Amino acid sequence: MAEAPAPRLPLCPSAELAERGKAHVWDILQWGRPATAFALRFDGAVVAYVNRCAHVPTQMDWQPGEFLDLERRWILCSLHGAMYEPADGRCIGGPCGRGRLWPVRVDEQDGQVYWYPSRDIGPKPSDDAAAAPRSP
Ligand code: FES
Repeated sequence: MAEAPAPRLPLCPSAELAERGKAHVWDILQWGRPATAFALRFDGAVVAYVNRCAHVPTQMDWQPGEFLDLERRWILCSLHGAMYEPADGRCIGGPCGRGRLWPVRVDEQDGQVYWYPSRDIGPKPSDDAAAAPRSP
């Protein structure tokens, strides 16, 4: 019997992600703790990673949604300049050593980008859900 496809969640319209442009950043839970992830378009493909540097576990964007260097070639950590290959998240220079970014699975269909929660990464409950009264 075939396995059911993994559930996916809508992320943003495809048109929001220009080639090597600003990223879409969203809230997630990684191992149950609040974090953010980002998705950007590079060489036509949408890639996404947890927004956490492999050097020191901190957010990397130098302006909200800005992850690429001035030449728009590498993902650059704003803190100490670690550089990552956008296509696979591998560290290619700087203090990230042999580290790599934590990938988030994404795909695109009919003008919409989707992401796939995993065992380690899930959606952050909405504020509405968190504020909803609990049943007795
Ligand atoms: S925290 Fe990213 S390079 Fe140091």
